[in-house]
Order: sequence, then structure tokens, then C-alpha cells
Amino acid sequence: MSDLNRAAIVAALLDWFGEAAVSLPWRDSSDPYRVWLSEIMLQQTQVTTVIPYFQRFLDAYPTVQALAAAPLEDVLKRWEGLGYYSRARHMHRAAQQVAAHYGGVFPRTARELQTLPGVGRYTANAIASMAYGEHVPVLDGNVMRVLSRLADVAEDVTAARTQRRLWELAESFMEHVPPGRAGSFNQAAMELGREVCKPRRPLCAECPVRAHCLARQRGVQEQRPVKARRAPTPHHDYAAALIEDRAGRILIARRRADGLLGGLWEFPAGRCEPGETLPECLARALHDKLAVKIVAGDERLVVKHAFSHFRLTLHVLDARIVSGAPAPQGDAYTDARWVGPGELEQYAFGRADRKVIEHLSDFARRLF
Ligand code: ADE
Repeated sequence: MSDLNRAAIVAALLDWFGEAAVSLPWRDSSDPYRVWLSEIMLQQTQVTTVIPYFQRFLDAYPTVQALAAAPLEDVLKRWEGLGYYSRARHMHRAAQQVAAHYGGVFPRTARELQTLPGVGRYTANAIASMAYGEHVPVLDGNVMRVLSRLADVAEDVTAARTQRRLWELAESFMEHVPPGRAGSFNQAAMELGREVCKPRRPLCAECPVRAHCLARQRGVQEQRPVKARRAPTPHHDYAAALIEDRAGRILIARRRADGLLGGLWEFPAGRCEPGETLPECLARALHDKLAVKIVAGDERLVVKHAFSHFRLTLHVLDARIVSGAPAPQGDAYTDARWVGPGELEQYAFGRADRKVIEHLSDFARRLF
């Protein structure tokens, strides 16, 4: 392991954080419920996006018991727009476990915290250090970048071996952290990564630990961390149906509870096979998933959306049912409903379908 001056780095980071720490709503207290909620939200989502969601969640569910007692549908609705919806589903189940098995009090150790759904080593250690002062490190993308520069790690950080090395490196700082300060140290490391040790053009002149940074000494800070080139993300075309009944209500369907966008509502849709036309694709999907025969008409709009592992183009087509009444078939959907345009707001949709709804309301506004 590299011969960094860990004691000096810890002291400099804690000093810096004492002055530089920005005020964030979850920093007002060390309540494990707040720490947990914020850390789950902060995974894959930026701080500025998280703040209003965090506040709305706390208003709606001031305690873990309140969250546990809420219907999943409500939780998903409040999560709408944050993405990665499995986080919300896991969070809801975790709240139910804390309420049922721990009397509403979060377990006190990182080891026990890891038994909760959606809580891995990072989240468990973040809660244990920030809420309970346990001497355990965190390693998120920001800390990984900081450590790989400080120690000039030249191996691919996405490899399991390098990940183990970085966790060991993070761990090795802990013995130099004063009692009760692990939470501050961990937040300092994360904040340094986000605000100063940025992915491109790091602000080395402002860095409290620049004198210790091996990558900077060697002039390779912008080449760290090393990441193996990822295969290009696949792309798929989907066709979605806009179907109105005679009363002007629109057909929506609820996705099965697990998997991508699990439990969310959408305009019924299917992924197109190579060589299939959009109307053919849509007719097949609605036959298989909702047992209706449809005729597809014009393409009303096209929405593009990127998930972490694939990109999609959603072609939204007007369509008409020619036989059958929509009822879930197979395991794609668990529910199908006709809802008035004004009711769409009450349902939780993913971002791509939300864009379709925005388009519909713009269209309605222009008409009337
Ligand atoms: N990123 C995720 N959680 C954080 C925290 N508590 N402080 C600073 N950055 C973070």
C-alpha cells in the first residue's frame, strides 16, 4: 500500500471540511432515518436535484414508521423524476423491516445495516459513520477519484481487484480519524471529490491535500481514475400506444413490480424486433400484454431516453382497439386502466412517459 502520510491527510481534510462544508438539509441532524434517506437519494443523483425531493419526503413521511405504512404507489409517485426506481422499492421494504423487526429504530452497526434491502457496503458505512460515529469508510465515485489520485492508482477502477484495493486504502485512513469524526471525514472526502477533485480539470490549487497527491506530483491527475472503455450502450426502438375511449379517457398500464421501472405506469408499449414496422410491433405487444386487437395510426411523437445500460427511442402512435377489453396477460403488466387526462397526474410514470404527458397537455392547451 502506498506510503501516504495518512495522519496529515486526515487532519487537512477535517480542517478543510470544517470551513468548506456546505449546509445541506440532511446535515442538520444525525438522525439515521435522515442520513439513510439522503444517502439512498444521493446514489446516482446530484445534490441539487435531491434537496427538494428529500424535503418533500420528510414532510410526507416524517418517521421511518410513516414511510413503512405508506402505500408503495405513493412512495413511487413522490420518487417520480429521481430515476432508478428500484431504490424507492427497496427503501420502502427496508422501512417496513426497520418498523417490524427493530421497533422503528435503525440498527446501530454497519454490519446489521447491510441486511436491509438496498443497503450495500457504501450506504451501511455512510449511515453507521454519520449517525453513530462508527469507524468505517465510504467509497463512492467521488471518493474513488480522490483516492485513485492521491495514491496514483494506475489500474482500471472498475475491476473487482482495484475496488478491493481502494476499499483497503479507504479503510487505512480510519485509524488516523479521531473518535467520533468518521462521519465528518467521510463527508469531507466525498465533498472534496465533488467540489474540488473534479473528474475533468480538478481544482488542484484549492485542494487541501494537494501536497500529498501522487498523481499531481506526476502530472497525471487528469488521467486518474483509469476506467476500462465500456462497450457502447445498446439502443432499442419501442412503440407505445395512445388509445382513447369514447369518453376521452386514455389507456395506461402498470408494469410488474420488479425489474426496470417496476410498479410504474406507462402508455402500453413494446420493444420492436428487427424488421418489424412500428404498427406491427405495437399490435403484437398489445395483443400479448393486454389481450386486445388494435389498429395503429399516426406517429404522434418521438421521445428519446437513456437508462444506465441502454438507450431507447419511444415512438408514440395513436391507436384504436378493434376487439377485446384490456386485461393484463403474461407477466408484463399487473393492471390496466382508463383514466381522464386530468387524472394522469396522480399516477407515477417514468421520465419518458412523463414527456409524452407533457406533450399531450401542451397539445390540449393549444386546442382549447
Ligand atoms: N455524497 C453522498 N453523500 C454525501 C454526503 N453526506 N456528503 C457529501 N457528499 C455526499
